[in-house]
Formats: sequence, structure tokens, C-alpha cells
Amino acid sequence: MSQLRAMTEQNTFNRMRDSWARLKHKAKLWGLRRARNKDYQEYLTVQFDRTFSKRNQIPARRNSILMERLVELGDPPRDGAVLCVGPRDAFEVDWFRGKGFSNICGIDLFSQHPDVLVMDMHHMSFPRDTFDVVYASHSLEHSYRVEDAVAEILRVAKPGALMGVEVPIKYNARGADRFDFGGVKGVLRLFAPHVTKVLWSDEQEPGTPLNWSGTAIARTVFLINKGHGVVGACAQPRSGRI
Ligand SMILES: C[S@@+](CC[C@H](N)C(=O)[O-])C[C@H]1O[C@@H](n2cnc3c(N)ncnc32)[C@H](O)[C@@H]1O
Repeated sequence: MSQLRAMTEQNTFNRMRDSWARLKHKAKLWGLRRARNKDYQEYLTVQFDRTFSKRNQIPARRNSILMERLVELGDPPRDGAVLCVGPRDAFEVDWFRGKGFSNICGIDLFSQHPDVLVMDMHHMSFPRDTFDVVYASHSLEHSYRVEDAVAEILRVAKPGALMGVEVPIKYNARGADRFDFGGVKGVLRLFAPHVTKVLWSDEQEPGTPLNWSGTAIARTVFLINKGHGVVGACAQPRSGRI
């Protein structure tokens, strides 16, 4: 009986600790929600709730395949600035640090690590031309307006920056997963006409040796230029292929 009571007390304590942690992180999200319309605020809440509920999950190891290709083929300078868009946890920043990069930063809607800043991918506070590398794995499909997120990425990327993008494809986009880019072409179209050179592209069905997730994926590594003015993209809001 006393064991049962101890378990109940422990559960209550864990629940209270979780609620407190959630509240603390959510308070930061309020800063991002300010001055946004209701639909956008709802969007941020949906994204936050989804990622926060997964905060203790072990990061998917699939991620390192794209990072490996990016570093191998792009060979960015180790003292260059790296941005991880929507890393959720410290796995991506730690991975780049492990490869000798020293200037890495992630942005997400909550943070459990000093190198991950709480920032919205559509409204970054970095100056233009800041990053040598931008890495966005399974984050662009979570954007509110993907063309705005891409324009913001292009703003903060240096001319000639190296870009790595991975997204799920051919899936049922709904809830926090807002877009299906259909394939590598759909991703590259978003960045056109700023793509100078595609270094590597790959599409994988679910459950292959190069994709052990349950969804098909598209990933690509490319170089961007910024010589054509403001980015024009072709995304449609909400679900459906773009
Ligand atoms: C599916 S997780 C991807 C995590 C990791 N990059 C990976 O490849 O497994 C998507 C991440 O994007 C973040 N995200 C969603 N909307 C965002 C926004 N507007 N600004 C910044 N991050 C956002 C979510 O909070 C979440 O942590």
C-alpha cells in the first residue's frame, strides 16, 4: 500500500515537474506569438506542443546521412557559421561540433541547450549574410508559409552558402506537418533561382538502408547565390503537394 502511495506521489511530482517545464518554455513562445495574427499564434502553439511532446525522444539517426554528405561534398570552412533550422535538441549542433565546426547555432520554438536559440524561422534576428552553412532537416514542412521561411533563410545565408535540406515526401500532410514537397525537385524549386549547383540529391522510400523512418524522404545539398534579388517561391499554404 505504501509502495502504491509512493508511486502515486512520484507520478504527481513528475506531472507537476513536466507542467512547470512546459510553462517555462511556453513563456518564451509568447514572445514569438506577440504581434502575430490568431491563425499564426495557433500555428506556433501546434508546432510547440508537437515538438515539446517529443523532447525526450532519442534523435533519429537518419539525420546524420545528410549532414555527412553536406560536409563531405561541400567541405565548408570549419570556422564558418552554421545554422540548424528546427533541430529540436542538441543532436545536430553536437554533430557539427564533433566534425570540428566551432560556430554553430540552432533555432527552434523551445530550447534545452544554450546553442539552440528560441527563434521563429520566418522572423530571424540574425543580420543578413551571416551563415556559411544552413541545415534544415525535417523543418521546412513545419513552416507556416514556406516561401517566407525560405526567403528568411536566404536573407541570413551568405552568398555562396551551402544548404542541406531534408523533408518527408508522399505522405499525408496534416496537423504540424503542413507541406509535402513531393520530391527533390519540389525542394529545389523553392530555392530557385538561387540554386547555383546541386551537389547531391536523394529520394528514399521508407525503410531502406538509407532511410529507416516510416515516411519517404527527399534530401539535397546545394550551393546558393543571392544575385537575383528577392526569392520567389512556389509553395501553397496547408496540405497538398506543392
Ligand atoms: C520534426 S522536428 C525536426 C527535428 C530534427 N531537425 C530532425 O531532423 O529530426 C521539426 C522542428 O521544427 C521546429 N519548428 C517548427 N516550426 C518552427 C518555426 N516556425 N521556427 C523554428 N522552428 C520551428 C519544431 O519545433 C521542431 O523541433
